[in-house]
This record gives sequence, C-alpha cells and structure tokens, in this order.
Amino acid sequence: MKIGLPKEIKDNEYRVGLTPAGVNALVNAGHEVFVQKSAGEGSGFPDEQYVKAGGKLLNTADEVWQTGDMIVKVKEPIAPEYPRMREDQLLFTYLHLAPELELTKQMMDRKVTGVAYETITDHNGKLPLLTPMSEVAGRMSVQVGATYLEKMNGGKGILLGGVPGVPAANVMIIGGGVVGTEAAKMAVGLGARVTILDRDLNRLRQLDDIFLSKVQTMASSRYAIEEAIAHSDLVIGAVLVVGAAAPKLVTRDTLKLVPQGAVLVDVAVDQGGCFETTHATTHSNPTYYEEGVLHYCVANMPGAVPRTSTFALTNATLPYAIALAGKGFERAIAEDAGLKEGVNTYAGKCTYEAVATSQNIEYTPLDSLLDGGRSASA
Ligand SMILES: NC(=O)c1ccc[n+]([C@@H]2O[C@H](COP(=O)([O-])OP(=O)(O)OC[C@H]3O[C@@H](n4cnc5c(N)ncnc54)[C@H](O)[C@@H]3O)[C@@H](O)[C@H]2O)c1
Repeated sequence: MKIGLPKEIKDNEYRVGLTPAGVNALVNAGHEVFVQKSAGEGSGFPDEQYVKAGGKLLNTADEVWQTGDMIVKVKEPIAPEYPRMREDQLLFTYLHLAPELELTKQMMDRKVTGVAYETITDHNGKLPLLTPMSEVAGRMSVQVGATYLEKMNGGKGILLGGVPGVPAANVMIIGGGVVGTEAAKMAVGLGARVTILDRDLNRLRQLDDIFLSKVQTMASSRYAIEEAIAHSDLVIGAVLVVGAAAPKLVTRDTLKLVPQGAVLVDVAVDQGGCFETTHATTHSNPTYYEEGVLHYCVANMPGAVPRTSTFALTNATLPYAIALAGKGFERAIAEDAGLKEGVNTYAGKCTYEAVATSQNIEYTPLDSLLDGGRSASA
C-alpha cells in the first residue's frame, strides 16, 4: 500500500502521525511511505531519519495526499486539507467529528474512509488510542502544578516534596482513571502527600493495591471534596463521565476554602472541566485567577511535549496502521471489531451513530455498506 504522512498544519500542532521507526516497520512490511518534507521536525525527527528508515520524501502536502492510499495523521483535517481528500482514500487520524459538521460533510461528499483514533476500542471496551494522551497529560499535570507553585509563578512558594524537616505539599487528585493514576505516580515520586478521590469504589481498591500506603483514597462526595481541598496545595481535576460534560465537582463557593497560593490544574477541561470556574486556556496563555486561585486549564496539554506525545501516540496507532495497510481495510475491520468501531465515514455515509445523532444527519450502519450489504442491495 502507498501510505502518505503529511505535516500537521493545525495551529501549534507539532506532533506527526508516524515516527521514523513506524515508517521503517511499514516499509519492512512491504509498503511505500511518502513523507512530506519537514513533517517530523516539530517532534524532533529530521527528514534524513525518515529517508534512512526507508521513507520517500515529497515536497508538498498536495503530493502526499495525491499519492497515499492511506493517510496517517494526528489531527482532524482542517479547511485547507479538505480539497486534498480523495474518493476511497483511507484517513487514519483523530477526527472528533461530532462538533465538526463541515468536516463530516466533506468526508462524506468525497467518499473518504475515515477511521478515527478516538472511537477505536480494545477488548475491554476502553479507548486505546486516547489512553496515551491521558498518560501524557496526567504526568504533565504534576510537573505543571509544581512549576506554578513556585513563588515567582504565582504560587505558594513550596516544593512538592518538601525537604528533611519541612513537610511535603498536599496534592489532591479528583478522578483516579488514567490521568489521575499517572498524576499520582508523579506526585508520589516527587515525595508529595497524595489523596485520590473517585466515585468508583472498585477503582479506589485498585489504586490502594497499586500505591499501598503511599496515597490516601477517598470516596468522592461534595463533603469529601470540601474537606480535602481545604488542606491542598495542588488540586488536579481528572474526572471523566464518558460522552458527557464533566461534572462540576468544585464550585465557586468551594474555592473559598482553598488555601492561599494553591494551584488548580483542570485536565478535564476538554470535557468542560470539573471546576465551576474552569475555562479552556492555551499554551501561550495557560493560567488565570478566579476567586484569587490560580487555574491552569490548557485543553491540549500533550501539545507542549510533542516528541514524547508523538512516540506515545504512534506506539499505540502503529499496530492498527500495519493491520490496515497489510490486510486492507475490509479484512482488517472484519478481523478486529474494535478497529471497526473506529470507522466514522465510509462510501459517502456517516457510519458512527453518535456522530450522526449529534449532527442530526443520517446514520448508516457500516455492515449495510460492506460487501455483503452491497450485493444484498444490488
Ligand atoms: N487537557 C488535556 O490536554 C487532556 C489530555 C488527555 C485527557 N484529558 C481529559 O482528562 C479527563 C480524564 O481522562 P482519563 O483518561 O483519566 O479518564 P478515565 O475514564 O480513565 O478516568 C476518569 C475517572 O473519573 C472518575 N469519575 C467520574 N465521575 C466522578 C466523580 N463525580 N467524582 C470522582 N471521580 C469521578 C471515574 O470513576 C474514572 O475513574 C478526560 O476529560 C480527558 O478527556 C485532557
């Protein structure tokens, strides 16, 4: 198969869809990979590394899109990329189509086969291509929190781990899923005193087993949150209710309990945030104050560490890219029901029900369009 790797053009996006190692794996499997010049620069991969890995350099995005039977990307296509999409082209990337009616229409009109990272599921029904970014954001949240706790950055002027003779800082993590667990690992590693709240008791049991006595776990309730927040130096919001806006667990009133100089990091901002006072910020202007409390609410935290994020993302996406390229689309999805869940558009139709519902457009089950469906309706 001919695979195209274009450079990302979304504002401040430095990740890239394949590392040189990924290109090499695809080339070794008998495919041709066409890499746009400087595609990997933002992640620290010069063109020469792609050439050494067996990739073929092309000068422009147009050439890459024109050549590739499958395009591997990171972010959803944006307007300048729409005219580049071709009929029956396989597009493998984050799509987040639900709020993007124009993109969905473009993909349907152009009969693009859109396989979205974010809707692929694994054997446990989890989202394996979202997990790596939660891991990055979870670990970053503590790093960022520690930075803003420094006095000149607006914080209390304390070190997370304290020093001998001086107590460590208190870190409170609301939500003990992927983000919360990775945040806890970093905070424990730095010597902080960590409390994790979750509403899922089984999850708290697992966390207790993982961390033993190194973290305190608490069943989440308004009362527990108010009690813990009054003693916290760093509060990390890490809840998720799948498919729904994040619950507002820390109200504006509760902020009055937060000690002076404490820092809030709301990782759940991309789902609206779990603090009532959260609004999305950017890497160029990441923080603001509400009720005198410093908030950090960057919606694309992994963007700050594109090299780590590209490695983390492509570690997870590459096996799927290899399956799609090696088996072809129809066999690959026939053999992997979780990969099939990733198909959002096919043959001019929207094949992902939640996207169709949120955009009020027709939903067409993928099976009715695949070979069997085509011959049945012929
Ligand atoms: N800002 C960013 O750059 C960035 C990056 C990656 C992920 N995220 C976001 O971080 C959030 C967390 O992601 P995740 O992968 O850890 O999700 P996850 O599903 O692994 O974990 C979420 C946890 O929240 C818990 N929870 C739900 N409701 C709760 C409540 N009322 N009280 C306490 N706990 C509750 C769940 O039980 C679960 O353990 C998501 O909104 C995700 O989109 C943001």
